[in-house]
Amino acid sequence: MWLDSFLLSLDFKSITLFLVLFILIADYVKNRSPPNYPPGPRAWPVLGNFLDIDNTFPHLSFSKLAEIYGNVFSFRFGSDKLVFVCGYKMVKEALVNQADIFVDRPFSPMTDRFYSATGGGLFMSNGEKWKKQRRFALSTLRSFGLGKSTMELCIREEIQYLQEEIQNQKGEPFRPSGLFNNAVSNIICQLVMGKRFDYSDNRFQTMLKYLSETLYLEGTVWAQLYESFPWLMKHLPGPHNKIFQYTEKILEFMTEEVENHKKDIDPNHPRDYIDSFIIEMQNHKDSDAGFDESNLTYCAMDLFLAGTETTSTTLQWTLIYLIKHPEVQEKVQEEIDRVIGQNRLPTMADRANLPYTDAVVHEIQRIGDIVPLNGMRLASKDTTLGGHFIPKGTSIMPMLHSVLFDKSEWETPDTFNPGHFLDQDGKFRKRDALLPFSAGKRVCLGEGLAKMELFLFIVGLLQKFSFYVLDGVELRTDGVTGATRVPHPFKVNARVR
Ligand code: HEM
Repeated sequence: MWLDSFLLSLDFKSITLFLVLFILIADYVKNRSPPNYPPGPRAWPVLGNFLDIDNTFPHLSFSKLAEIYGNVFSFRFGSDKLVFVCGYKMVKEALVNQADIFVDRPFSPMTDRFYSATGGGLFMSNGEKWKKQRRFALSTLRSFGLGKSTMELCIREEIQYLQEEIQNQKGEPFRPSGLFNNAVSNIICQLVMGKRFDYSDNRFQTMLKYLSETLYLEGTVWAQLYESFPWLMKHLPGPHNKIFQYTEKILEFMTEEVENHKKDIDPNHPRDYIDSFIIEMQNHKDSDAGFDESNLTYCAMDLFLAGTETTSTTLQWTLIYLIKHPEVQEKVQEEIDRVIGQNRLPTMADRANLPYTDAVVHEIQRIGDIVPLNGMRLASKDTTLGGHFIPKGTSIMPMLHSVLFDKSEWETPDTFNPGHFLDQDGKFRKRDALLPFSAGKRVCLGEGLAKMELFLFIVGLLQKFSFYVLDGVELRTDGVTGATRVPHPFKVNARVR
């Protein structure tokens, strides 16, 4: 009663003052940190630390903050608190030594909007559902060739299509991104849908464009604004809406594939991941393991998304670094010529005999920094990191850029240097701090496949072509950072060797 009459007695100025005070106090109370919580930059009420980052190169801004606040620091997107974990040792501590604590993904309003019907596909699911789906995906993909010689055959066949396309450019400048996306995507499509798509398939090209655009937008400030203020951003125009439009289109594409599979599936002879999933659905009619048709389309989409852009982008960085370092390109070609020659396509067995080439592939994975941030993780119970208290429910970002460029791990972190992966005798040397696929229980599900693809595609391309740019063309290495870090659009020339 007294509150009603108090409010009625206020004028506009006083109401505004009252609201501002209320917001400030609510913000302070909500964001109070417990003792020994990781330090971080002072946050603005409501906005948090949005203004502290350079949106063009967010990973570089976060690295600078690590230099100021240490390898475990806190940051606020709007009112969402996030703890950044940086440097090889600390990322390993979180993801490997405390693997059981940091296994789940935190809630995300954006992914909740498109995964809500299913509980998360492969990337965003948690708990038992995630465990069952991850195990099923790995064992099914293995049964269709993942990590085996049948997969090598499939990649080698695709290399020939790609070589043919590049040869058709007749030495003229061409954009490699579309061709690489298509070639790499065909490998995961063979496993998931049992087929490849021709480089002239317009609809598939459009899907690949949606996919690239989605991954870019997911890493921009627009997506961050949606994550922090979903109630507002849902109603505002802006690029974030395209994420939902494009994802919807990719889902439609996957749903059609599932429908087509249902028409002629033979339960005794599954042809691919989609067939196997449909068959598995019969065994899980009442269970909560995510074996339903809607989750099938999301899991298939996750494999398609995760299995395309990352590997294709690494191939694009390969061309850029090898054109910028022609002496390295020549040395790789000389090794390939000596060990394999120019007529036989490479196999994985060749890798042991190509230490310099292997070192170059690994160095490109390091300096390419394809996923500069990482997937987020959630602390499932109270713990400590670097001596700081991490309460249960804290979201952490184990930042991969900080590992791949860790000054205490790499001799020349900012320079392209295949020597990082060679010993004194020129033999390949493995480096623990190379974690482009992350680590721990949620380490990239496609690590083995991606490594096979990268080695075979890179060798297959350099065996057949020398890549260069015309005089005056400068290739940029700064990249466009979204969820992945991709090169600025570029063209190259390929000379048949
Ligand atoms: C160079 C290529 C690739 C890179 C750099 C890469 C990197 C990553 C990274 C950093 C993560 C997040 C891991 C985490 O949260 O700790 C991830 C997750 C994932 N990747 Fe990859 N990836 C690549 C290729 C692939 C391929 C070819 C596939 C297809 C099978 C794939 C499927 C996945 C899936 C399904 C996840 C989610 C795993 C989970 O949450 O359990 N990736 N990848």
